[in-house]
Amino acid sequence: MKIITCINEMKEWSSQTFFKDKIIGFVPTMGSLHEGHLSLIKASIAECDATVVSIFVNPSQFNPNEDFNSYPRNIELDKKILHKIGIDVLFTPTQEDLYPNKYQTFVTVEKKTNYLCGASRSGFFRGVTTIVLKLFNIINPNIAYFGEKDWQQLEVVRTMTHDLNMNISIVGKPIVRDKDGLAMSSRNGYLSEEDRSKALSLSKALELAQNLVIKGERSAENIRTEIRKVIEQKQGTEIDYISVCDPESFTEQTEIYSKVLVALAVKVGNTRLIDNRIIGNA
Ligand code: PAF
Repeated sequence: MKIITCINEMKEWSSQTFFKDKIIGFVPTMGSLHEGHLSLIKASIAECDATVVSIFVNPSQFNPNEDFNSYPRNIELDKKILHKIGIDVLFTPTQEDLYPNKYQTFVTVEKKTNYLCGASRSGFFRGVTTIVLKLFNIINPNIAYFGEKDWQQLEVVRTMTHDLNMNISIVGKPIVRDKDGLAMSSRNGYLSEEDRSKALSLSKALELAQNLVIKGERSAENIRTEIRKVIEQKQGTEIDYISVCDPESFTEQTEIYSKVLVALAVKVGNTRLIDNRIIGNA
């Protein structure tokens, strides 16, 4: 595994690999790797000729009151994991190189970033699309892999690449859950044992929503109410949003007659968690 920090060196590796007609798979991450990341990396290794993983905790996607400084950083362990799994390049650019002093260019996807996480974390998606576009320009991948836990992020990145006529396939892979149902996230490490058991209410509520729809419930409002009950049963949880929405536009639905995205953001203690499930007929 080659470790590249310098942007020009990364570009040079990519253009040489491109001229060898190799398909480059790319998995952007902020490190603290878990099974969710590994499923994306394994997919890239299986489907592409060369795999690049980036680790960069991107400051532009955090608000001043968010956890940029305390975000888990485990670079030495991450390197060992990536070495073992057998990727071609680990790209670890520096903040100074990606956002030098006079940096002033940002990319914004409109409309679909006004909902869900975009509504409660202002500037978040602007930061995500900016860094993802920069990484795409540096690495020039054929295929990029994103987890469906961040469903809205995946859709926003898809929209960006489509709208900007980029030749990159965006592939989403299913959420990886712990045995108890908790969706894998680097932020799970913040949870105390007690918080962790409360955090299970997210996946339980989503499962309940699915079962209610299977049994014939069609009212999105009833689904939201039932989800709210499951989460509010646990003290120390604070609901940011419960959404039953269109999986591409993120507009709230009133009735469930086709496929909908049920998405949740809940603070458990001090940790903001998200989870989602697609339910209903395709
Ligand atoms: O999902 C993440 O870890 C980040 O938002 C990403 C895509 C690596 C951009 O910083």
